Amino acid sequence: MQDYFPSKLAQGAQFCNRIKEKTELQKNIDKGRHTVIIAPRRYGKSSLVLKAAAESAMPLASIDLFLAHDDSAVTKRILAGISQAVSQIMPIEQKILNKLQTVFNNFRVSLNAGGFSIEASIATTGFDPVDQIFTALTSLDTLANQKKKKIILFIDEFQDIKEASSSKAIQGAIRHVAQETSNIVFIFSGSNRRLLTELFDNKSKPLYMLCDTFHLERMSSKSYLPHIQKLAKKRWNEKLSDIVFNKMVSLTELHPYYVNLLCHELWKLKHAPKFEEVFACWQECYNTHEERLIAELEKLTAKQQDILKTLAVYPAIEPTGQGFVSASKTPASTINQTIRALINKDMVYKVKRTDDALPSLIQNQLRVLDPLLAYALKKYS
Ligand SMILES: Nc1ncnc2c1ncn2[C@@H]1O[C@H](COP(=O)(O)OP(=O)(O)OP(=O)(O)O)[C@@H](O)[C@H]1O
Ligand SMILES: [Mg+2]
Repeated sequence: MQDYFPSKLAQGAQFCNRIKEKTELQKNIDKGRHTVIIAPRRYGKSSLVLKAAAESAMPLASIDLFLAHDDSAVTKRILAGISQAVSQIMPIEQKILNKLQTVFNNFRVSLNAGGFSIEASIATTGFDPVDQIFTALTSLDTLANQKKKKIILFIDEFQDIKEASSSKAIQGAIRHVAQETSNIVFIFSGSNRRLLTELFDNKSKPLYMLCDTFHLERMSSKSYLPHIQKLAKKRWNEKLSDIVFNKMVSLTELHPYYVNLLCHELWKLKHAPKFEEVFACWQECYNTHEERLIAELEKLTAKQQDILKTLAVYPAIEPTGQGFVSASKTPASTINQTIRALINKDMVYKVKRTDDALPSLIQNQLRVLDPLLAYALKKYS
């Protein structure tokens, strides 16, 4: 049976809509404009970049800096990404290694069972991580220019670079190359919105104003409807009723990861789901994820937990009003401060877009970001 609703990247037919975002990103790629994509965890950043790149037919190399917390890990991953980029630009055979060696003359180039790789030559003294990254990126630019190819370099979980001791200098090296190249398009992304914004929007940081910023939001029910109905037809040879679809939308609040999680559960049924079965499957999702959600709650202070609980029951535009103050048993000044902290942690978000199928969603309302957590907080509070 096909996995129509993956928990990992959505690819091919698994990928729903995002037409506007994809077009915008493709335009940027075509124009060679570097882009940073910011969104909370699991909103579909990586899926979007890979889909846009696949459709643009431009070679893509991706570098994931997840937990790359020191210079050597950052350097290793960037060099691996550059090796991947080189293999995308040209077919690598033993006989062209010498030619590549002249471009990457400060590195050792090799081809083995694991593929093509470039590594710092041990003989080169004083070749520190920043020099390595700068030289390798410049060499990639030269090669792409020689081959008349443009390449997309996708650097994911970019905020993790912050922990490396030469972080600022590495960002400076990337900036230097990014400013001059017309052969490499950089796309940065990451799941820590606060850190990422700091790296790109802070005047004292090297990457300041280098990129166009895309804030990725949730998808609309209108975008999901044809995608889900098509897959319902495939599975049960019938469409879902409006009441079932609307219930799915109201439970998942259109959070892409949770839409897939719930659909994955529903699509296990032998018949098209009935209204009550949507609840049952959502509860099943909760049962599987309970431990993770509790662990996330436990990372918060007692006050943050209280406010989150109150927001789950009473999503609010003005959380310092009398009703919210008495429900949360917290003074207004503490509420504001706590909500700011919860927004920074991506536990709470402000509604930017309303949706016809989700009347409970009101513009500028503050809500618990994770719909499964909101469900549990409401149910068990
Ligand atoms: N356009 C889409 N159509 C269908 N499902 C999607 C789409 N975008 C994302 N998803 C689903 O949402 C979830 C998160 O996707 P993805 O890994 O691309 O997000 P992310 O923002 O990169 O996550 P992370 O912050 O963990 O890196 C996955 O289950 C994925 O299948
Ligand atoms: Mg991702």
